[in-house]
Amino acid sequence: ITIRQATINDIQAMQNANLHNLPENYQLKYYMYHILSWPQASFVATTYDEVEGFGDEEEQDEDNLKQPIACDPKGDSAYISKGEKIVGYVLGKMEDDPEAEDKTPHGHITSLSVMRTYRRMGLAEKLMRQSLYAMCESFGAQYVSLHVRKSNRAALHLYRDSLAFKVTTIEKSYYQDGEDAYAMKLELKLEE
Ligand code: ACO
Repeated sequence: ITIRQATINDIQAMQNANLHNLPENYQLKYYMYHILSWPQASFVATTYDEVEGFGDEEEQDEDNLKQPIACDPKGDSAYISKGEKIVGYVLGKMEDDPEAEDKTPHGHITSLSVMRTYRRMGLAEKLMRQSLYAMCESFGAQYVSLHVRKSNRAALHLYRDSLAFKVTTIEKSYYQDGEDAYAMKLELKLEE
């Protein structure tokens, strides 16, 4: 499994993965906005696997390789081109709301998810670390913020215990279904 910066060619597969894994979904143009504005801040975890009719080298002609998206027979990934599939992503941005109270440059994790069969392998932590580092290095982010459902044990474990995020506030009924969110924050420091 490879982790690399996300490109505009990945956004459809990222959106598919998001639809699969989370109830908070975004329009494709919002993914595009992230990738065009802060290309360093979003990452994908990808892999190649043997799928009937996909992995055959001899059949790989130009036209097939250009096919942007193919369906996933197993329903647990989002193919972007022949054989390469996205199994996880992190969508990150810098805070750019002119109304935002805090003018300190800081990043925000919009969305993170890993396909079910690829969980508990450390992928989410790696994706997060790459994004946090890039926000700090490329955009001078001094901290990064995010929201997470109070009931999301896996994500809370990752943010609080693995990455040392702190809960800053509880935002009542933050989600459409009425669930509260923890607003979390991590100070970023570039090592000297
Ligand atoms: N229960 C308890 N701890 C867990 C669980 C779980 N179900 N899953 C992972 N963890 C722990 C791991 O043990 C690991 O801890 P460690 O550092 O002590 O070993 C840590 O969390 C990181 O684990 P990873 O393997 O890196 O996490 P994974 O790749 O499995 O992805 C994720 C975690 C993204 C939360 C995944 O479960 C998922 O996609 N869930 C559905 C989507 C989701 O909830 N996304 C986050 C929403 S919040 C937002 O987007 C800002």
